[in-house]
Amino acid sequence: MPKDMMKKDFLSYQAQTSPRPMALEVSRAEGSYIYDTDGRAYLDFIAGVSANTLGHSHPRIVKAVSDQVESYMHVMVYGEFIQHPAVKLAKLLAENLPDPLDSTYLVNSGTEATEGALKLARRVTGRSEIIAAHGAYHGNTQGSMSVMGYEERKQAFRPLIPGNKFISFNKEEDLQKITDKTAAVILETIQGGAGFIVPEDNYLQKVRKRCDETGALLILDEIQPGFGRTGKLFGFEHYHIVPDILVMGKGMGGGMPVGAFTAARKHMVQLMDKPALGHITTFGGNPVVASACLATLQELTETSIMVDIQAKEALFRSLLVHPLITEVRGKGLMLAIMTASEKLSAHIIQESLKRALLLFGLLFERKAVRITPPLTISEDEIRQGCAVIIDILNEWHD
Ligand SMILES: Cc1ncc(COP(=O)(O)O)c(C=O)c1O
Repeated sequence: MPKDMMKKDFLSYQAQTSPRPMALEVSRAEGSYIYDTDGRAYLDFIAGVSANTLGHSHPRIVKAVSDQVESYMHVMVYGEFIQHPAVKLAKLLAENLPDPLDSTYLVNSGTEATEGALKLARRVTGRSEIIAAHGAYHGNTQGSMSVMGYEERKQAFRPLIPGNKFISFNKEEDLQKITDKTAAVILETIQGGAGFIVPEDNYLQKVRKRCDETGALLILDEIQPGFGRTGKLFGFEHYHIVPDILVMGKGMGGGMPVGAFTAARKHMVQLMDKPALGHITTFGGNPVVASACLATLQELTETSIMVDIQAKEALFRSLLVHPLITEVRGKGLMLAIMTASEKLSAHIIQESLKRALLLFGLLFERKAVRITPPLTISEDEIRQGCAVIIDILNEWHD
């Protein structure tokens, strides 16, 4: 089919999320590169929005998926049959998580994991109030949207689930809003859509303490920082606390669609009784997806990929120095260039695409330019990509 025809069909038949999609027509992807249908190689600083942990088509993931497809694909709804990939994945997660996080429920996307975590917190506590943060993003289904901290994106979809409250991330005074009526506090360990905002001044320890005082559960959404992106398997490990419920997705699947929430088994059992089938999913724990997750987790825990993240972050920070860059936010390979204007940040993203470097924005902070490459990116590739960004900034005239 001619190239223009495919683009026309993409815009006509495939439902769109925005009036101006990037519309890169993909032919294949490997390592840190995505190739278009003309064979042009694009250096990928997006990684499918923090999803391609090990780069594109990593041989270990490809083998795990192909082997699994050869033996069986979907055979039964979640939780009934013993399917080795899902069991091995849940066990390896438990082995790599602190106590008491030992029981994992596998779903199909990040937002479903958020929904499951919120339901579980309400069951465990018998309370209904959820406290979330301004600027928070936990997914786009209606429960997750109810705890989204960005009114502009919510108002068209009201009424959402009532009874939630909002606090400001990193603001200690607001923690008094957490009371013995609160079922759970849900936070991103590092706020993503709001602008890659890291917790400061022992903030998460203070949240943990207040939750313990009031009996509220602490849910940490690690859908973006999780699976090695900050140099540890999960971002919370940097802050010396353990959540009651851990929410994950994106990079967990190494390129396959997945989500999961993990908690203590004594809590998780609430979802199987009174009523039984309290949370169900047809495709959660899908064996092909679980095989990709298992291969990703094994590769992360058996190699030096996570150890190398700190040096890669330092390299990015040393190269991204320019009078038009006001700040580089984030941690590990979850970085955002901040500029003084939305116009300049949008220009960097558009212009870099023309120069075969893939950059993207953040949901709510339009002065930010996302840099979330595959964790396997090489130092040479980091240098090449940053040189493109600096060239664009040097040529900028407002
Ligand atoms: C922090 C966070 N939570 C939840 C989600 C939703 O995940 P999904 O798009 O897989 O539903 C995302 C996705 O961007 C995210 O970054």
